[in-house]
Amino acid sequence: MGNEGIMTSIIQVDLLVHSAQVCTVPDRGRPQRGADLGDLGLIPNGAVAIRDGRIVALGKTADLQTRVTAAKEIDATGKVITPGFVDPHTHLPWVGERANEFEMRVAGASYMEIMAAGGGIMSTVRAVRAASVDDLVEANLPRLDRMLAHGTTTVEMKTGYGLTTADELKQLEAIHQLDQAHSMDIAATFLGAHAIPAEYKGQTETYVDLVVEEMLPAAAEWSQGNRPLFCDVFCEAGVFDVAQSRRILTKARELGFQLKIHADEFEGLGGTKLACELGAVSADHLVTTPAEDIAALGKGETIAVALPGTPFGLGHRDYTPAPEILAAGGALALATDFNPGTCWCESMQFIIALATRYLQLTPAQALAAATINAAYAIGQGDRAGSLAIGRPADLLILNLPDYRHLGYRFGTNLVEVVVKGGRVVGDER
Ligand code: NIG
Ligand code: FE
Repeated sequence: MGNEGIMTSIIQVDLLVHSAQVCTVPDRGRPQRGADLGDLGLIPNGAVAIRDGRIVALGKTADLQTRVTAAKEIDATGKVITPGFVDPHTHLPWVGERANEFEMRVAGASYMEIMAAGGGIMSTVRAVRAASVDDLVEANLPRLDRMLAHGTTTVEMKTGYGLTTADELKQLEAIHQLDQAHSMDIAATFLGAHAIPAEYKGQTETYVDLVVEEMLPAAAEWSQGNRPLFCDVFCEAGVFDVAQSRRILTKARELGFQLKIHADEFEGLGGTKLACELGAVSADHLVTTPAEDIAALGKGETIAVALPGTPFGLGHRDYTPAPEILAAGGALALATDFNPGTCWCESMQFIIALATRYLQLTPAQALAAATINAAYAIGQGDRAGSLAIGRPADLLILNLPDYRHLGYRFGTNLVEVVVKGGRVVGDER
């Protein structure tokens, strides 16, 4: 009696990971804002069941063990399960390196001085212009491997090291091929307004004309046959001002791009307020953000993406005013900014370690900012950054007794197992 009902409810799954502290990081249909940041949806002694690459059951281990039979089981006793990290701001793909500039900075030169002297972003632009799509793919696949090994399962990448129409499209093509070749999910952003290229020195408006009239339409056309694109601008003193950023982003929005901005990295010009006004998905960096721009984040939908690896990488003392952004009711996400100039860092774990110190986030807040909120920052809150039935099975097993050890421990890889799309990374090789 009653057995039939129980029998029919037993499901066959590919993988059952069990006996762990499961941080589901629930998706409530919007990013976790203000005081709500840090909702982890903990399941003590929990389990996750996976079939055909998706989560099919989630709950207490004792319960799931009666409901599923699994082809493979992983006993995660004494460990933590989290969603795969989402890294919503990187400058992949590039070639070359700038260790010489790092040495100059250590000796006292500033990032913007090096840029003004023709180095910085332009130095990587020269390397990327000389590279083929194949060179870009080959140089960046191992970086994706390392990011995945450190727990990132979805990543955003940008152009911005081409700065001619052809070279920007070449970077887009490399992003597309990397996405095809790698298990990581990749979101793509057009950042033709990343720097004023040397050949346009002193003619910023003319370069903005080129971006608006030629590059953006070309990128939009490319995206038709391939993938949706974000458009980003480096809004900064000596680079693109607020009026130029507005021109570029307004045109991009007309062409169907979703918007992002690099704002307030060194000087607070009003780029964050502009992003909120234009309905940008995210405003990124936000170190020197003025009070009225913080208030705008609290009222608008734009997500603040903090990149604490960048001030750290530059040896600066000031970080994103996260407590103020949260007090205003803003939504905050974390990302690496992975790039060869300011932050050569593949690991979201290290970013969490920085955020728990210099942004004063609790481990729970930092984890939510690196998962569900980061997914929303690239428009993927409905598929990434949270563990729930029906979602792609992107999850991590951390060799930690409790999630609060994330950020507390740093400098080694705390991820023991990465499951990407239901497959244990490493098993397929
Ligand atoms: O986000 N600030 C602009 N862009 C990057 C640095 C890129 C580079 O230096 O190559 C950043 O920090
Ligand atoms: Fe950046």
